[in-house]
Amino acid sequence: MSLVAVVLAAGQGTRMKSELPKVLHTAAGRTLLSWALDAVTGVSPDRTVVVVGFGAGQVTTTLPEGVESVTQTPQLGTGHAAAVAMGHLGTARDDDIILVTSADMPLVTAPLLDKVVKAIESAAAVMVSTERAEPFGYGRVVRTDTGSLLRVIEERDADGDQRQINEVNAGVYAFKGGLLANALKAIAPNNAQSEFYLPDVFPVLLSDGHRVEVVRADPFETMGVNSHDQLAQADSVLRGRINASWQRAGIFMQDPARVYIDAGVTLEPGVRIYPGVHLEGSTSVGPGAVIGPEVFAVDSVIGPGARVWYSVLRSAQVGEGSEVGPYASLRPGTVLGARSKAGTFVEMKNTTLGDDAKVPHLSYMGDASIGARSNIGAGSITCNFDGYEKHHTEIGEDAFIGSDTMLVAPVVVGDKAVTGAGSVITRDVEEGALAVERSVQKEVPGYAARREERHQTTAKNEE
Ligand code: UD1
Ligand code: CA
Repeated sequence: MSLVAVVLAAGQGTRMKSELPKVLHTAAGRTLLSWALDAVTGVSPDRTVVVVGFGAGQVTTTLPEGVESVTQTPQLGTGHAAAVAMGHLGTARDDDIILVTSADMPLVTAPLLDKVVKAIESAAAVMVSTERAEPFGYGRVVRTDTGSLLRVIEERDADGDQRQINEVNAGVYAFKGGLLANALKAIAPNNAQSEFYLPDVFPVLLSDGHRVEVVRADPFETMGVNSHDQLAQADSVLRGRINASWQRAGIFMQDPARVYIDAGVTLEPGVRIYPGVHLEGSTSVGPGAVIGPEVFAVDSVIGPGARVWYSVLRSAQVGEGSEVGPYASLRPGTVLGARSKAGTFVEMKNTTLGDDAKVPHLSYMGDASIGARSNIGAGSITCNFDGYEKHHTEIGEDAFIGSDTMLVAPVVVGDKAVTGAGSVITRDVEEGALAVERSVQKEVPGYAARREERHQTTAKNEE
């Protein structure tokens, strides 16, 4: 006997009104399917089979190693999907326990699945149900007067009385394999959607005298995502769980409702997060770093004790004790050394900034390497693009780039070299030299008085 998890993921998700298969929509940084698989992994199944259909190619490329897939075409309903999975499993399935869950239920947790797997020991099948104040859209659990299970009736097939039922089918089940295979043969698409409904196996099993156990679950955990409003609700619940777990791990959040941390992000104890922070992808933040307000960081590394606020970081690295922002944009390939600075209105791309080096204000540094302790004056720019190709700028250590220097790449500025404010540097500057490219200042004495006089004469003539 083994445990097989079947994850239904073949539906188009018509209600999402999207080209993207529903199960590939993301909540808190992971696809709905990935959340569903995560919960399944928690009960250590011997095999996991994902039923794919709509966008099958796209969906299968996202599957982790060891997870099998089987294609359901056309998609004739959840019962048909289960039958396709059983066909894929072959005859071995008869002694197996089949745990069925849907890829559109990202809030389901491993402990719930574990309960379902335990409950199947003393039953032919297990169904999970939930009380919902607003049951619209879900299959309702129809019971006898004495409370025993009769069947599940879908919204579109339900009559007025049945629609009043608040107990709904969650869409998580376990079956004894052989019994499921037989029961699936007995169901028919006699319903409003002309589909084979998986819950229709329950009346079949019950009339054959088998026991069906109903496990009750929390409505939050069993929410199905069928539309964008439900996707947003699921996202908010998942984010809440992620934030709470980080808070328990020693992260300060001034207002967790306004902090958006993807599942793949790592934080170290002592990190402080202020409102409006989005940490996405594989972003990691070192101990004691202060992030926010208003930071968007994706696939970035923020070092210990760094301070990042009002800024955007994409595939960027921020060294220990460095400062970023306010209003900095660090694009891919930006690597800031320890105690360095990318300050106010600074954009950087594919640029390394050495330890203790600073770009404090209003600059663009692209395709550049800047040595340790160098200072880039306000308004300086690497002119890296000639309209056809990108070129490199190299600035040595302890260099001082005067304000408003245009560094026309390719160009090299040596260690300890200085550029005069306002210079357009087109040729290499040797170590320790001063490069100034600027016309000589002209002075016109008494100019202001003559200008004043001229103005008064004109004004008089116009009277
Ligand atoms: C289903 C249940 C309903 C339950 C609800 C819980 C049926 C008939 N109804 O309704 O009782 O209250 O879930 O969320 O099962 N899928 C396939 N192949 C298909 C059709 C669907 O793999 O041919 C997959 C979908 O990708 C999805 C899952 O099965 O992951 C559920 O399908 P969906 O159409 O969302 O069912 P609901 O109408 O929500
Ligand atoms: Ca659904």
